[in-house]
Amino acid sequence: MIHRISLIAPSGNTISLTAAGAGSALVFLHGFPLTSELWKDQITPLSEHFQVLVPDLRGFGSSDNPYGQFSLSDLAADVECVRQHLAPDKGLHLCGLSMGGYVAFEYWRQYPQHLKSLILTNTKPGGDSAAAVAARQNMAARVTIDGTAAAVADMPLRLLADSSRECLISQVQKMMYSVPAETIAHAQLAMIDRLDFSPLLEKIKTPTFVVAGEHDLLCPPNESEAWANQIPKARFACVPGTGHLTPLEAPSEFNRRLIEFLNTI
Ligand code: MLT
Repeated sequence: MIHRISLIAPSGNTISLTAAGAGSALVFLHGFPLTSELWKDQITPLSEHFQVLVPDLRGFGSSDNPYGQFSLSDLAADVECVRQHLAPDKGLHLCGLSMGGYVAFEYWRQYPQHLKSLILTNTKPGGDSAAAVAARQNMAARVTIDGTAAAVADMPLRLLADSSRECLISQVQKMMYSVPAETIAHAQLAMIDRLDFSPLLEKIKTPTFVVAGEHDLLCPPNESEAWANQIPKARFACVPGTGHLTPLEAPSEFNRRLIEFLNTI
């Protein structure tokens, strides 16, 4: 059975999430500027094996953000609030895509004792280049004037591989257009301030699975494989035919590889 749950975090914001299944907790964190809808094809199949928990990050989807600018550390604290409420006596398997991966790195930094495994998909550990910082600042400034649709107009095309674009573009646009302009701005500024995890990779003792999409332009597979090799207990997989949204573009293949990895923990 799939439930929709709302929790009040210690900082006063409401975290809205989907919960399904029983067993070890498996939390999915969406990317930017997306919502928990990203994981719709993971919920039922994975809930046959796990307690699947899929939050909307602060300000996205049905989760509110009454207190303005947040940091990725705040988003990691929201994940910890989900664990304390819904899986208090268990560790987590934590799976994050892109920005969700940045939050997963941050969760590892703050709460490593609660992690059973990390699944880092279509993401990267490094910080931003000067050009990327400027682009984020530009979007954060423009979005509150022009609105979400104008600010993110070219993103769906860049995130999807050629083969999945036609079939998935309207779903991805719908998710993106639902994100409030202030959340787009807050998330961009939060990502500028994220920590560079590259020097910390060798310290990650948690069993880790790094997943890349063959045609991911934002997190190219050769780069993902190179940083995955620096994590002592990491496995790496590149899913053929997918872009930046591998779990949505090739759900069966992604789920199969994820279950295979989780079965080894
Ligand atoms: C995402 O998909 O979450 C974004 O590409 C992350 C980013 O902007 O760095």
